[in-house]
Amino acid sequence: MGSELTYRRHEPQPTSDSYSPKPNKPWLAVTRLVRYMLREQRLLFVLVGIAIATFVFAILPSSTDTSTGRMTDAYSVSESVQMTNPRRPVLHAGIESFNMGGKIPLGLKRKGLRIVVTGGAGFVGSHLVDRLIARGDSVIVVDNFFTGNKDNVMHHFGNPRFELIRHDVVEPLLLEVDQIYHLACPASPVHYKYNPIKTIKTNVVGTLNMLGLAKRIGARFLLTSTSEVYGDPLQHPQVETYWGNVNPIGVRSCYDEGKRTAETLTMDYHRGAGVEVRIARIFNTYGPRMCIDDGRVVSNFVAQALRKEPLTVYGDGNQTRSFQYVSDLVEGLIRLMEGEHVGPFNLGNPGEFTMLELAKVVQETIDSEAKIEFRANTEDDPHKRKPDITKAKELLGWKPKVSLRKGLPMMVSDFRQRIFGDQKLKESAATTTTTTA
Ligand SMILES: NC(=O)c1ccc[n+]([C@@H]2O[C@H](COP(=O)([O-])OP(=O)(O)OC[C@H]3O[C@@H](n4cnc5c(N)ncnc54)[C@H](O)[C@@H]3O)[C@@H](O)[C@H]2O)c1
Repeated sequence: MGSELTYRRHEPQPTSDSYSPKPNKPWLAVTRLVRYMLREQRLLFVLVGIAIATFVFAILPSSTDTSTGRMTDAYSVSESVQMTNPRRPVLHAGIESFNMGGKIPLGLKRKGLRIVVTGGAGFVGSHLVDRLIARGDSVIVVDNFFTGNKDNVMHHFGNPRFELIRHDVVEPLLLEVDQIYHLACPASPVHYKYNPIKTIKTNVVGTLNMLGLAKRIGARFLLTSTSEVYGDPLQHPQVETYWGNVNPIGVRSCYDEGKRTAETLTMDYHRGAGVEVRIARIFNTYGPRMCIDDGRVVSNFVAQALRKEPLTVYGDGNQTRSFQYVSDLVEGLIRLMEGEHVGPFNLGNPGEFTMLELAKVVQETIDSEAKIEFRANTEDDPHKRKPDITKAKELLGWKPKVSLRKGLPMMVSDFRQRIFGDQKLKESAATTTTTTA
């Protein structure tokens, strides 16, 4: 039975008279081609073509020059990862390969990208959307409006390059885009403690969903993490290499540990699935469009001073924070997304203020008569916070430009308009109701 399958190659094979193809003579084809070209004088044209192509490629400087000294980052995106993303070469073909000397040749405009901003109706997200739309990109905002507001992006309604989707990132979503800025997550303690289970779900499941999307469509993904990953830090100022001092079971853990897990997931998708990722660790940021009563110290003080209420200082007021104006943060986020370094990068203003010093600046800016009221400190409130931004300075060429004394008045005029504008609306509504009753 098995004899038919026995290996017999070592035995001499019987010769057969059956048809066998002519032996190949590859040189015949080549000599025929050369003879033909010489006869038709086409070789000359081919050689001239090759010479022109060589000349063109030789005069364009290599793009690798721009990365000199920048690839020292331990988490720099490897070339292999760049190449696994089918969209990158297409996206930037028009820009990088022709723009190697830093100039875009006449007639070649920057191609607009398609970008998703989750949490784009929130404070930071809406300012980011403004910048992206202004530079010519198409933006899709994905937001469940938990802390965000349509008012923050309403000025883009009607723009064909803007779309708004009411969606919770805890549920999967399929979109075709080039970049994903993942901001969706309540950021102020009042909001993230409101429903801690939802907060950690947003950070873990929401981030997983967005990373899955990035992997599926080959998009670049940026996570907005936080200085809270350092917890109550034992190192000051905080450098990105510091692993933090975080309470895993406290009331803030849904946010702090949620963001730490989101960072872990981001790095795992990068290392394990080749997704191009970026991580920003954001320090306290303030500016127009912040939620008025979100319990964050700057918005609290400003709203209280405007309403002629005392400024509430928790603890002895000697705990420190650094305050970054929102336009500086947006600049840092865009540089990080466009650059070649994964991070994490601290994005914050290293100017350090105690709560009492901040209260003083608010008094100077809004109401010198404003009183200060001390209250018991909240649980797990970090004593010190100040970013070391050396890495962002060196690798992203970024540093904040707007000082607290310059930024605060811009926020105050927005708050004044919203608080007293709202008040006027309420008063006029009340008058109408009373008169019609
Ligand atoms: N502002 C800061 O000082 C600061 C500091 C550190 C980190 N960050 C991070 O930056 C990001 C933006 O912060 P922000 O200050 O603009 O906060 P924000 O609360 O104003 O914005 C968050 C946005 O995410 C949306 N959102 C929340 N949960 C969602 C969900 N499950 N699905 C879809 N949308 C959801 C909200 O509706 C809101 O529009 C957050 O990830 C935050 O953790 C901010």
